[in-house]
Amino acid sequence: MELQEILYSQGFGTRRVCAGLIQQGKVQVYADNSAVEPVPVADAATEFVADGLRFRVMGVDWAYHEKAYVLLHKPAGTECSQKPSAWPSIYTLLPAPLRSRPQKGAVQGVQAVGRLDQDTTGMLLLTDDGTFIHRMNSPKRHVPKVYEVTLKHAVEPALVQRLLSGVVLDDDPQPVRAAACEALDAQRIALTLTEGKYHQVKRMVAAAGNRVEALHRSQIGSMQLPPDLAPGQWRWLSPTELQAVQTAVPA
Ligand code: URA
Repeated sequence: MELQEILYSQGFGTRRVCAGLIQQGKVQVYADNSAVEPVPVADAATEFVADGLRFRVMGVDWAYHEKAYVLLHKPAGTECSQKPSAWPSIYTLLPAPLRSRPQKGAVQGVQAVGRLDQDTTGMLLLTDDGTFIHRMNSPKRHVPKVYEVTLKHAVEPALVQRLLSGVVLDDDPQPVRAAACEALDAQRIALTLTEGKYHQVKRMVAAAGNRVEALHRSQIGSMQLPPDLAPGQWRWLSPTELQAVQTAVPA
């Protein structure tokens, strides 16, 4: 693939902008995976094998990804909307190319796979793969998600029982139940859900007679939030992690 096309596909701007960056000497390419320093490429039409290519644009290293699958550690006080109403958008935590990746000729960028509330922290996936978003959000798929819930009142066995046997939420006559629920300490529970209704954890806990004081998503599928990913940081998912987020923990 031509270098200008590679840059374009990764969200570095229009084809014309990408060609300009290369011609102005702002792009260097790593010769292979073991290369320590990238070498300048000035001809925008130079061909490279895109898969596995690493390059540097205006001093920033980038790796080619045909599709983007990234993990963000969402901090509290951020909204999952592109047009937030009161708090900064999570999208401001991502580098510009991830927000500008083109799809079918239009700038789409990555989109969050489902949403977390403004005050919820933890694992959030983002991708430009619409099929993946659809699959992950499908109620039929039952991808488990684990939430660590800090409660206002002490954990009682009856609360855990109610969450496991099912509580009725206002808009749904069918009881919703947690796939798993255990006390972590006197004030905290770990709750596993396989669906994603609006404010589901907060509403389930309220319906079971307690109140959520803090909410943190610690696991999606069989992947846990990596401890070295600080709030506000993002990183690419490895192929193994991409599998893991779609897979239930074996019983
Ligand atoms: N359930 C909630 O109530 N809020 C979230 O952010 C996620 C799940």
